[in-house]
Amino acid sequence: MIDGIHGNPTVYLNGDWLPLSEAKVSVLDRGFIFGDGIYEVLPVYKRKAFRLQSHLTRLERSLAAIRIRPPLDQAQWAALFDELIQRNQGDDQFLYLQVTRGVAKRDHSFPNPEVRPTVFAMSSPFQRPTTAQRDSGIAVVSLPDERWLHCDIKSVSLLGNVLARQAAIDRGAPEAVMFRDGFLTEGSASNIWMVKDGALHAPLKNHLILEGIRYGLLQELAERLQIPVQIRRIRQQELTQADELMLTSATKEVLPIVQLDQRPVGPGAHAGRPGPIYAKLRRAYDQLLDEL
Ligand SMILES: Cc1ncc(COP(=O)(O)O)c(C=O)c1O
Repeated sequence: MIDGIHGNPTVYLNGDWLPLSEAKVSVLDRGFIFGDGIYEVLPVYKRKAFRLQSHLTRLERSLAAIRIRPPLDQAQWAALFDELIQRNQGDDQFLYLQVTRGVAKRDHSFPNPEVRPTVFAMSSPFQRPTTAQRDSGIAVVSLPDERWLHCDIKSVSLLGNVLARQAAIDRGAPEAVMFRDGFLTEGSASNIWMVKDGALHAPLKNHLILEGIRYGLLQELAERLQIPVQIRRIRQQELTQADELMLTSATKEVLPIVQLDQRPVGPGAHAGRPGPIYAKLRRAYDQLLDEL
């Protein structure tokens, strides 16, 4: 039994299916030693991976970015995820996949000859956002973005994100919003959106943020709803003047941010409450899930 984990889910490790409590990796794994690996998180609704193709594309991009030869092809990843879902319970799950450069003598340079990458996948029950979070929104705090310059890679080296998240929690907020050189980047584990004058604004998709699968999804929903989208550099001060703020991620879906640094978000009577653009996007997101 592992603290905080109910039951003993079946996981995948290097070709084997086994109970989580029996899954072991060497202390010389480069994921453990150097954080030398990448990961993916996929939400599952009604026992089907949601937006699978986008996740597979991002997975291949992450592997290429850190020069790990893909241990499986797209069809094999899809089959692995399918089997993981079938071997675990619950209509809604979230899948975690981690691929590291493998096990080798400790040396910063890549193992030569190459070693087999470590592939680990597990499923957890998907605790979707609560009605309170969806209807009342959440608080965030502003923090300097102190991460490296390849935030576009879904790397397991998440120390900057971990410290930002904990700093937010220490200040009573569940998420941090980060800024680099005075411009918005993203949350510790989410993409951040601003509404101003009826348009949805988001930071550029570049090396300073992880392009969430829900980043693309929200853009699609906005287009469908004819909400103008502006992808551009967003100054930190603009967030204090925003009509609405929201965040997206696989596990948070889309949630309204109603407090920034303990001040209510939004103008006048709306201040501190989820806004109308959020409500429209949320409805569209729910509808998409209903149609699955
Ligand atoms: C740093 C960061 N940005 C953005 C996201 C959102 O990505 P996705 O929508 O694919 O979950 C995540 C997800 O965990 C993240 O960790």
